[in-house]
Amino acid sequence: MKVQIPRGTQDILPKQVKLWQIIEEKAREICQNYRYEEIRTPMFEHTEIFTRGVGDTTDIVQKEMYTFLDRGDRELTLRPEGTAPVVRSFVENKLFGDPNQPTKLYYLGPMFRYERPQSGRYRQFVQFGVEALGSKNPAIDAEVIALAIELYSQLGLKNLKLVINSLGDKESRMRHREALINHFKPKIGEFCSDCQSRLEKNPLRILDCKVDRDHELMSNAPSILNYLNDESKQYFDKVCHYLDLLNINYEVDATLVRGLDYYNHTTFEIMSNAEGFGAITTLCGGGRYNGLVEEFGGPETPGIGFALSIERLISALEAEAITIEQEDTLDLFVIALGEVAEDFSVKLLYELRKQQIRADRDYMDRKIKAQLKAANRYNAKYVVIIGDDEMNNGKAMLKEMATGEQTEVNLDTFVANFKQRVTSREE
Ligand code: HAM
Repeated sequence: MKVQIPRGTQDILPKQVKLWQIIEEKAREICQNYRYEEIRTPMFEHTEIFTRGVGDTTDIVQKEMYTFLDRGDRELTLRPEGTAPVVRSFVENKLFGDPNQPTKLYYLGPMFRYERPQSGRYRQFVQFGVEALGSKNPAIDAEVIALAIELYSQLGLKNLKLVINSLGDKESRMRHREALINHFKPKIGEFCSDCQSRLEKNPLRILDCKVDRDHELMSNAPSILNYLNDESKQYFDKVCHYLDLLNINYEVDATLVRGLDYYNHTTFEIMSNAEGFGAITTLCGGGRYNGLVEEFGGPETPGIGFALSIERLISALEAEAITIEQEDTLDLFVIALGEVAEDFSVKLLYELRKQQIRADRDYMDRKIKAQLKAANRYNAKYVVIIGDDEMNNGKAMLKEMATGEQTEVNLDTFVANFKQRVTSREE
């Protein structure tokens, strides 16, 4: 038996989980401020949701999906991303019929991609993402971008770079597509086989190719920004205008081609430019996907969103040497000596915890000195020592660990009095 974690996955051990929880709570809190509501979709979907949604010429669909047949011969795929499932759910549950439009959703959960693992790239990773469905107001593009930046900055990240681009509407994209085909066609034989098959199907994907990125035709490929029609250009200008209003710095980069097919109009990525950050610098990616809801059989509904992984966010925090205060304390550590005291402490702990008091005891038959050490390791605020004498006269010593101060306390009223003591300290 191989007692080993699968490649590209990681255990988040208790010491690290605290940081994850803080980040997750922050994300939820910000979503609440922006009125995005949580949605939870299954870990797997019918494969078609991704082949149709993400696009069958993308790397994700061609190379990275965990696809399997279940016992009923259904072809299913572990979700590699969250947008297609959210749109599937939006259509299936007719969320477009809700009077509260746009539908503003967020999700937080594991995604799965069979990628070559390296620093910042996992086969299972946790995405936090938002999707706003139902509005084609450019102000919501800016809102979505601002929300992502807000999370990073509230956590203290400073070395961020926002890159934006527009892929325009269908008409603009068709014109750009033709220009790309004309550009690459004469020398397509020099490109990888993936690019050769992409030429007619989806030439935009060629710009995203990792194999051919240094080919001479890449650097002077037709820029989408030169093919935007007036409407698309105006839309993009408006998004930039709102970002300016919010004092959000950005760089327009016409070569920003996202790795998923559903995008049009605004696309963006947030990178870390912290020194020492690994080779993969993209922290967050997103954009507009007008048309995806119709693709899934829903009514015409525009959409925009982003996703970011908590793994890369944590790497960025590490690269900027940001440590986040992680409170990990115990209110009380109970030391019981002898059988009668042990019986009493079993009941005592049960009652204390019912009162929302964080309390623990020793279960390892440690000597009293080692128990005090353990109390210190758990950052216990107080310790109470209960032995035979204490049980006989109903009183015990409560020690405050920070000051060493000892107070005599009654055992029969201990829970209520201790509760008062910790709550008054907190106030
Ligand atoms: P994506 O660019 O494929 O977009 O992924 C978004 C983010 O997920 C990346 O910027 C990165 O932080 C994280 N990520 C992706 N792959 C990995 C990996 N193997 N290991 C660790 N982190 C990873 C999407 O997924 C779109 N659904 C985003 C979106 C939402 N667009 C519109 N709405």
